[in-house]
Amino acid sequence: MFDHDGYRGHEGVTWISDAATGLKAVIAVHSSALGPAMGGCRLWHYPSSSAALTDALRLSHGMSLKNAMAGLPLGGGKAVILGPVAPEARTALFEAFGVAVDGLGGRYVTAEDVGVSVADMAAAARRTRHVSGVTAAGGVGGDPSPYTARGVLRGIEAAAARVLGRGDLDGVRVAVQGVGHVGGALCRLLAGQGAQLVVADTDRARLDRICDETGAVPVALDEVLEADVDVVAPCALGGAITAEVAAGIRARVVAGAANNQLAEPAAGTVLRKRGIAYVPDYVINAGGIIAVGAEYLGGGNEASVMADVDAIGPRISDLLARADAEDTAPEILADRRAEEIIVAARAAR
Ligand code: NAI
Repeated sequence: MFDHDGYRGHEGVTWISDAATGLKAVIAVHSSALGPAMGGCRLWHYPSSSAALTDALRLSHGMSLKNAMAGLPLGGGKAVILGPVAPEARTALFEAFGVAVDGLGGRYVTAEDVGVSVADMAAAARRTRHVSGVTAAGGVGGDPSPYTARGVLRGIEAAAARVLGRGDLDGVRVAVQGVGHVGGALCRLLAGQGAQLVVADTDRARLDRICDETGAVPVALDEVLEADVDVVAPCALGGAITAEVAAGIRARVVAGAANNQLAEPAAGTVLRKRGIAYVPDYVINAGGIIAVGAEYLGGGNEASVMADVDAIGPRISDLLARADAEDTAPEILADRRAEEIIVAARAAR
């Protein structure tokens, strides 16, 4: 494991198994230099335990970068549970997961991620207090997706101002790929500002609902990223933008919620060469972790969380301006800045 490409820089990995519930999980703590390592728990049907490890390492490193760039006093970690899980075993399994998280004594704090619901985290929370995204205690936290959508909106506003010279989003054409929890909420916010939407989703009922609500126009799944619009917002799964897709994008801005949007570094290079501004995913989609972080750490209120989420806008303006000034891709600058923050925190300890 120590030779694994993704292990580099990690503080530790814990393998969990519980015979009684069938739980098999990996908890990766990339860094606790800035604070407790926080990142969601993913439930996925991995082809092997090695594939689960690879995913956990990649995601936990990503959380370190995201939390550092968001200015949070939180390190980065991630848990993955090896599915499938029988529906009747689910509650007991997440309780066992809670016991495992508790055993780490607060070094890792969990929350929802792909395949994991608020109810699952509520089960884990019966066994540990190191869980977030469970209840909106005092109005802060709970379901992270509305906060994520708001942060993405602020990022789109900032990019539209810089790249399109637009002071507002009235009439700005935005293509949203995936109208689920975040993408759907983003569509409502964008429509509220007068943006013209085109949307695609594999879930037809969901798509119809958003179109009815917002006046968005549905387009084919393989057309949405290359639609004739000003902004493309990937809000479905990661890896949507390959170098080939990047070569066909007609928008001048790519700014969406999905994690790991660039399938390969070359995709970022193609975007930059074509003069398309790519807003780094983990900078623009930090609204959710800002909210659940505040829920876990305490001391915040709805207004302070919203202000922290809104700060994503100026952060992105600054990043895009520096990218142009230094003729470097924004995603490379973001990685560099986040690593600097983590290294400085480690040294200060
Ligand atoms: P979700 O599962 O609610 O929504 C995803 C939507 O994408 C679903 O409606 C699904 O049918 C659709 N979809 C899947 N494949 C598609 C395809 N090929 N083309 C078009 N649509 C497709 O997930 P959620 O929570 O909205 O998250 C969306 C993305 O944002 C994910 O990549 C997630 O990792 C990321 N993210 C979410 C956060 C949150 O607060 N929920 C926080 C940070 C990142």
